[in-house]
Amino acid sequence: MKRWLIVLLLVISMTLVMAGTASANGGPHGDYTATTDSCAGCHRAHTATGQNLLVANSTYSLCMSCHGSSGTGANTNVEDGLYLSSRDDSLANQDVGAANTPDNAPLLGGGFVNYRGTAVTSTHDPTGTTNQAWGAGGERGQLGTIDDNMDCASCHDPHGSGNYRIIKETINGVSISVSQVDEGSAKDYDTPHWPANISNVCGACHDPYQHATNDTSSYTHAVDVTYSGSTSYTDANGTSVSVPLAANNTLVCSTCHLAHGTSASMEGYAANSDLPTGGDSALLREDNRGVCQACHQK
Ligand code: HEC
Ligand code: HEC
Ligand code: HEC
Ligand code: HEC
Ligand code: HEC
Ligand code: HEC
Repeated sequence: MKRWLIVLLLVISMTLVMAGTASANGGPHGDYTATTDSCAGCHRAHTATGQNLLVANSTYSLCMSCHGSSGTGANTNVEDGLYLSSRDDSLANQDVGAANTPDNAPLLGGGFVNYRGTAVTSTHDPTGTTNQAWGAGGERGQLGTIDDNMDCASCHDPHGSGNYRIIKETINGVSISVSQVDEGSAKDYDTPHWPANISNVCGACHDPYQHATNDTSSYTHAVDVTYSGSTSYTDANGTSVSVPLAANNTLVCSTCHLAHGTSASMEGYAANSDLPTGGDSALLREDNRGVCQACHQK
């Protein structure tokens, strides 16, 4: 091959690699240049109002200034669990989702206050007030302590990361990998394209729940296994339920649970679940035990 052709091909492939890297994070999160303006969106050197030199009094309120229901700097409104396609216009050229995500689409993570237009019935608490997680460092069904009070930055790295959805590379002291996936030319915030290892984010705090088989001391539903049957079911009344799988037909925590919060309703036996505090909706994506029927269709 002619030398100039090799050089040309190298230049083209480097440009592609760099373009790929530039779109991996999104918004003000990472891929910073040496003379970036981004730091100043969240930090002030002398006039900060919160710890870590933040421009807000907590990590939670900083994130919500853009991602909250009255935020203006991000299209992903995590309070109402909605993608609002015109909200990040103030951040020119940082719109990373609109090509794939319709306006008003429900977000993959669910919502912290409302989801699908209804008030939530359970959420992860992102306000920095609890460090007690089920199973942490111990047994399923028992609360244990994680390394710090949980807030948005317990799971996400605001400076970007090599993981899917800027999931932190170390959570609760555990180093984890949640592979980036190819969502095409833009992010898709309403249709799952999960990597097969997405359960790792949950296992970082709820370690004993992440099992491919029952363990010797107690029983738990398998995760991180392949499932090739149907994942949706419609009953005689026409009510439909369905659950998503991750890459390679992998059954993951997110097949049954939402990461942020759900508005699913629980009645009867389902309201009396084995949550040690008494039943709530345990971040489940369907009403009652719709998640079970989606696959088992009993
Ligand atoms: C989207 C908001 C945001 C942007 C943009 C941002 N940071 Fe941060 N930064 C945070 C938050 C939130 C924390 C606290 C993280 C935590 O609680 O774990 C933090 C923590 C830090 C820390 C202390 C902890 C650590 O990770 O070392 C440093 C240093 C830092 N940021 C530097 C920067 C610099 C330099 C830039 C620009 C290149 C920048 N940040 C851009 C939100 C941001
Ligand atoms: C317990 C871990 C955890 C906490 C706490 C958390 N997130 Fe997430 N977040 C995730 C995961 C996992 C996803 C990916 C959801 C998916 O694709 O199914 C996600 C997705 C997102 C997305 C993309 C939109 C979506 O819903 O898929 C945004 C934006 C986001 N989180 C912001 C936040 C903010 C802001 C906070 C704090 C108010 C927060 N997150 C707290 C784990 C967490
Ligand atoms: C200055 C505004 C701003 C602040 C503050 C901010 N974000 Fe973002 N964030 C964005 C924008 C813009 C995007 C691109 C997607 C969109 O438009 O919602 C984004 C995207 C994200 C995503 C999705 C990343 C991906 O890979 O798709 C996550 C997760 C996220 N932010 C978490 C956080 C967390 C956690 C905080 C607080 C520590 C925070 N953000 C603070 C503007 C902001
Ligand atoms: C940073 C640590 C951390 C990570 C990562 C994490 N959790 Fe949690 N989780 C907690 C804490 C703390 C609680 C209890 C306090 C609360 O309800 O927010 C909790 C509570 C829960 C609950 C019970 C909610 C209820 O209704 O009481 C479920 C279900 C759950 N987590 C599932 C998950 C799943 C699924 C993932 C992965 C998407 C995950 N967790 C990732 C810390 C974590
Ligand atoms: C097949 C569906 C399914 C999968 C997969 C699943 N869960 Fe659950 N999870 C549930 C249901 C249903 C509940 C409510 C309690 C019950 O009825 O068993 C629950 C409850 C929980 C709770 C609340 C405490 C408790 O023990 O009841 C935590 C924490 C939790 N799950 C974490 C996880 C994590 C972490 C993963 C992945 C490693 C995971 N779950 C995978 C269905 C599932
Ligand atoms: C994504 C599809 C899927 C969903 C959703 C699902 N299951 Fe399963 N279930 C499976 C698969 C696959 C296995 C076989 C796991 C293995 O042994 O490899 C299984 C196994 C089981 C078993 C046999 C366990 C054993 O030890 O032999 C029971 C009981 C069960 N599931 C109940 C439930 C209940 C209850 C729910 C709702 C909380 C549920 N499943 C949700 C796919 C699913």
